[in-house]
Amino acid sequence: MNIILLGPPGAGKGTQSTVICEHLGLIAISTGNMLRSAIEKKSKIGLEAKSYMDKGELVPDQVIIDMVNIFIKSGSSNQGYLLDGFPRTEVQAQALATNNVAIAKVIEISVPDENIISRISGRMMHLESGRVYHKIFNAPKVAGKDDLTGDDLMQREDDKEGVIRDRLAFYHRQTSPLLAYYKNIASNSSLQYYRVDGSASIIEVNREILSCLA
Ligand code: AP5
Repeated sequence: MNIILLGPPGAGKGTQSTVICEHLGLIAISTGNMLRSAIEKKSKIGLEAKSYMDKGELVPDQVIIDMVNIFIKSGSSNQGYLLDGFPRTEVQAQALATNNVAIAKVIEISVPDENIISRISGRMMHLESGRVYHKIFNAPKVAGKDDLTGDDLMQREDDKEGVIRDRLAFYHRQTSPLLAYYKNIASNSSLQYYRVDGSASIIEVNREILSCLA
């Protein structure tokens, strides 16, 4: 089963993706994590993407589509994929539809803009695994360290308040039209669309998402 998680920056897509993938044996496709890894390796894609990401802008569609295609062709997932942060534009959604990745469910995690800034400004992450923490809402066992590896946690470059506001503006302009796009597909096909209240606690959101996936 292939699933898309949709929602604004800071909605909790990465947080929920980790738990859902563990629970259902899905492979996560997080374009944000792929791009951060490419930046860390100073690859061509990473160098190109960084200038967009630092400003909170979307990386050009073709760069993202090629990167995801390479990932999908390089392996297979028996259980399916969990798409986190992709697609983010209608062009990306159409590219996905031609890629033999049939989407069974779309889960929209809905969180009001006013909650986003405090969530993102308290976020810390483990770069290698993509595991996400929050200083208050999801604190690591040892401050500043990843629970599993003990590695140092880092703060993302694009988690500064000014950039967060830009990311939210780009989300509303370029990505939120996908909500109507997938609702429309759901009304004419077997695809199922769910809207989950992402302002509840991490555990409650997780429970609600898993019940949609049961
Ligand atoms: P990406 O990394 O995908 O960032 P994003 O979509 O902006 O989402 P975030 O990672 O900020 O948030 P999230 O929803 O995963 O929330 P999280 O679980 O971390 O993309 C980064 C950039 O890459 C983009 O700006 C763009 O430039 C580029 N890019 C990526 N994909 C692209 C694409 N397809 N096309 C073009 N460009 C692309 O949670 C946030 C915080 O809140 C954490 O601290 C967490 O602990 C906490 N939290 C989570 N849930 C809760 C809860 N229920 N209650 C309280 N706290 C919570």
